[in-house]
This record gives sequence, structure tokens and C-alpha cells, in this order.
Amino acid sequence: MPASPVRYQAHIPSAVQHDAHSLILTVAGLGGLVVAQSEPPGVSSPVAKTCGPTTVNIVCIDRYASVLPYHFFRESSVNETSFGQTSVPNDTSFGLVGEANFLVFDEKRALRALGSAPTYDFIFNVSAAVHEAPVSVPALKKLFISQLAPPPGYLPQLVVDLNQDPPTLSEYLSDPPVYAPNGGTFYNGLIYWGASGGNNSIGGTGQRSGIRTLDPLTNKTVIRLNNYFGYYFNTVDDLVVDSTGVVWFTDPNYSLYNRLTDIAPQLKPASYRFDPKTGAVTMIDDSIAQPNGIALSPNGAHLYISDTGAVAGLNQQDSPPGSPFNQTGPRAIYKFDLVDGGTHIANKCPVWYAQNWVSDGLKVAANGWVLTGAGKGVDVLDEYGVLIVRVQTNYVVQNFAWVGDDLTEFWMMGNNGISRARWALQGQDLAAI
Ligand SMILES: *[C@@H]1O[C@H](CO)[C@@H](O)[C@H](O)[C@H]1NC(C)=O
Ligand SMILES: *[C@@H]1O[C@H](CO)[C@@H](O)[C@H](O)[C@H]1NC(C)=O
Ligand SMILES: *[C@@H]1O[C@H](CO)[C@@H](O)[C@H](O)[C@H]1NC(C)=O
Ligand SMILES: *[C@@H]1O[C@H](CO)[C@@H](O)[C@H](O)[C@H]1NC(C)=O
Ligand SMILES: *[C@@H]1O[C@H](CO)[C@@H](O)[C@H](O)[C@H]1NC(C)=O
Ligand SMILES: *[C@@H]1O[C@H](CO)[C@@H](O)[C@H](O)[C@H]1NC(C)=O
Ligand SMILES: *[C@@H]1O[C@H](CO)[C@@H](O)[C@H](O)[C@H]1NC(C)=O
Repeated sequence: MPASPVRYQAHIPSAVQHDAHSLILTVAGLGGLVVAQSEPPGVSSPVAKTCGPTTVNIVCIDRYASVLPYHFFRESSVNETSFGQTSVPNDTSFGLVGEANFLVFDEKRALRALGSAPTYDFIFNVSAAVHEAPVSVPALKKLFISQLAPPPGYLPQLVVDLNQDPPTLSEYLSDPPVYAPNGGTFYNGLIYWGASGGNNSIGGTGQRSGIRTLDPLTNKTVIRLNNYFGYYFNTVDDLVVDSTGVVWFTDPNYSLYNRLTDIAPQLKPASYRFDPKTGAVTMIDDSIAQPNGIALSPNGAHLYISDTGAVAGLNQQDSPPGSPFNQTGPRAIYKFDLVDGGTHIANKCPVWYAQNWVSDGLKVAANGWVLTGAGKGVDVLDEYGVLIVRVQTNYVVQNFAWVGDDLTEFWMMGNNGISRARWALQGQDLAAI
């Protein structure tokens, strides 16, 4: 909706500064001088307008909102805040931003990716715990999701049954159970979990952070990795399996902060390459504060790792649990090239700085675009880190996965919610790798 042409009205003191960049008009108003002041050159409006198909609330942002009308302000916060919470009093269109399901920044590419009838639906109201490790098992038409503690020691996973209409959500216990999978992927018929918790008496036995696999047809799990030369991993967080079966994973500090383990980190936060054929584990990066999401480009040429170092707790066992947010702390996504015959990564390059909170889960679409769960939503970026569209949710998203025959159904999960988008943007077919 276009704003009224004489929208910039304010009471100002009588000593008015005139300059080349601001045109000052004076009009008589109630109780004194009322001035309508135009914005300096470069400021355009409206910033936001509804656009695209009407099957869902889509809002297009003009030129990335790169020039906002004065006096705008986005408050610093220790909590998650969204772009839409920015105060922009001189452009009433900005009110549309917070309400959109899809916030479009690159109109041409975004509308193509959304397709002719995109939808967004909040599907399940779940607990405030972290919900992660989504893995679609096409043969069962089920989506496996982990739920971390609290409650302390919570052992089952959750499963969305997509055979039902509407889909149903139930608890699932593998054999033996796996504590706190924080990342998950699908390779060669198996679910690969980054198991992030550990102590000597979980589920009747010891469990330590590492890599576990689940055969979803038999419910049997197997330990693939549980130590680094005797040390416990801190928090095997997220993982991806390449076409040769090699597992690439991140190991930040979170399990202590979240009380999923009984021991302070024994290793520096780092990312690793694990070859299940030989058992060899090789460090691939130790420069990222809290390496978290990890994803490969479909052509296998690039690896992306997100840094969630802006969300971190204290490292002593007796320090309070939880991970406070530091807005100026590390929260970029880095892109690397695979080198040395695909065994290492080089040319670390920051490609995206989270607009909200931190970039947690990270996955690459079939077309090479990079998606990341960050605060209350998911950012969709091209392979160079240019923002195309943001899905906005009413809960903090940790991770997401594509399901369905053509992989255009997109499920997101996090604290308090599981939701679904339907669009034209396809996921990689992990069952075919
Ligand atoms: C924009 O709005 C603010 C607050 O409503 C007002 O004080 C200011 O003068 C306006 N700016 C312009 C350039 O009109
Ligand atoms: C941050 O969120 C917490 C929990 O919801 C709330 O108690 C606190 O007041 C918030 N702090 C700020 C500065 O908004
Ligand atoms: C989920 O349910 C709780 C309790 O009924 C409610 O407070 C909360 O707002 C709901 N969350 C969402 C995202 O709908
Ligand atoms: C191990 O985990 C179980 C389940 O969370 C918990 O009840 C127990 O207190 C933990 N033990 C230690 C030593 O942390
Ligand atoms: C695996 O677990 C699911 C869900 O609990 C159950 O329906 C299925 O029968 C189990 N499969 C086997 C082979 O035990
Ligand atoms: C991770 O934990 C270790 C051991 O307590 C600590 O030295 C390090 O500073 C932590 N790293 C970050 C990024 O907080
Ligand atoms: C927040 O992060 C910045 C950059 O890493 C650091 O300089 C600052 O000390 C941190 N602030 C707090 C309160 O930890």
C-alpha cells in the first residue's frame, strides 16, 4: 500500500536548519508549527509490499531495504529479534515485514523458487527443547526428528508419519536407544546421527558423543565413532556424508552448556572428516569458534560450516547451564573448497552473516542454494551468500529437511514448533547419493 505523500510530519523547534539534502515545508498545525520534512536523496518507499501468489503471505522488500527512512532503529538484544522488529516510523509499509511467511529479497529468483502456489503451515506444537537432526526416510515415508533434553535424560526421538493425512507425530525408540542426536543425515539406507550426549549410565549403559547409525527398517543402531584417541568428543553436532561414504562433522562445546554430558570439553571446538571404512578421523578446521551446521554442495566441490560462537556458555562444569547470546560474537557461514583429492578443505571464506540470531542447521538445495535455520526462520541464500528469500516462523528453527517424491515439501523444526512449507525449491535426493 503506498504511503501518503505528506507522511513526514513532526513538531520541531523554530531554529530549522536548511540544507541541500532536506526540503523543509511548513504548514499551520494545531498548537504550533508542524513541519513535513522530506527524506534525504536515496531514501525510497515503500520498503515493503505484498507480492507473488496469494496462497500465502508473501512480502517483497525493495532493494534489500538497503536505504531505510530516518529515524529507524533495530535494538540490540540478548534475545532473538527479527528484522521486522526494526522501528521504521516513517514508512508505514514496514509493518508488513513482521507478518510475512515469506520475505522476498530477490523477487525474480524467489518467486520462481516459491512456485505458483506456495504454502506455509504450523503443524505441531512441541516442547521448548531443541528439535534437530531431521532425516527423511523415503522408503517408510517418515521424517525422523530428535528431541534433546529437557527433560533430563530424555531418550526417544520423534517421528512424523507422512503416510497419514494429516501427518502424525509420535515418539520412537531405537534399539539400543541413542541419546541426544544433534545432527542427522541419510546415506545408503542408514540414518547417520551425530550423537551429542554422554555419561556412564544413559539408557542402561554408557554413551559418549560420536557417530551412530540407525537402520530404519530394523530399528537397530550401531556405534561408528565414540572417541578421539581416548578423549570424548565434546558435542558431535551436525554431519554430512559425501558420495564416497565419508562423514564430515562439527564438534563444538554445547553439550556441557546444555547439560547433555557430564564432562567439560576435552578437545578444542573443531570440524573433522571420518572415514567409516578405515576408522580414521582427521581434523579439517580448528579456526571456527563453535562449528555447527555443515553441508556439501551437490557437486561435492564446496563445504559450508556455520559458526554459532555468538551463542555460548561458560566452560566450567559448575557454571550455570545455558548459552547466552552475544550479538557481536561470531555468527557467520563459511564456504570452503575441497582440496587434496577431497580429503581437506581450504580457502575459508565468510559468505553470510546471520541477520537474526545465529545460523544453526545448514543444508544445500539441489540447485546449490544454501539454506540455514537462523532465529525465527530460515534464510535461503544463493551459493555466493546473497539472500533470496526468508521463511519466517513463530519459533526458533534449529534445522529442516525436504520430504516427498519431488522433494519440494520442506519441514522446519526447533524450540516449540514444527512447520511445513510447500514450494518449488527442491532438496538434494540423499537416497540417491
Ligand atoms: C520521521 O519520523 C520521526 C518520528 O516519527 C520524526 O521525528 C522525523 O522527523 C521524521 N523524519 C523525517 C525526515 O520526516
Ligand atoms: C529476554 O528473554 C527473556 C526470556 O523470555 C526475558 O525474561 C527477558 O526479559 C528478555 N530480555 C530482554 C532484554 O528483552
Ligand atoms: C504451543 O503451546 C503452548 C501451550 O499451549 C503455547 O503457550 C504456545 O504459544 C504454543 N506455541 C506455538 C508456537 O503455537
Ligand atoms: C547420566 O544421565 C542420566 C540421564 O540423563 C542422569 O539421570 C544421570 O544423572 C547422569 N549421570 C551423570 C553422572 O551425569
Ligand atoms: C521399528 O519401530 C517402529 C516404531 O516403533 C515399529 O512400528 C516397527 O515395527 C519396528 N520395526 C521392527 C522391524 O521392529
Ligand atoms: C570450549 O571449551 C573449552 C574447554 O573448556 C574452552 O577452553 C574454550 O574456550 C571453549 N570454546 C569456546 C569457543 O567457548
Ligand atoms: C561478544 O563478542 C565480542 C566479539 O567476539 C567480544 O569482543 C565481546 O567481549 C563479547 N562480549 C561478551 C559480553 O562476552
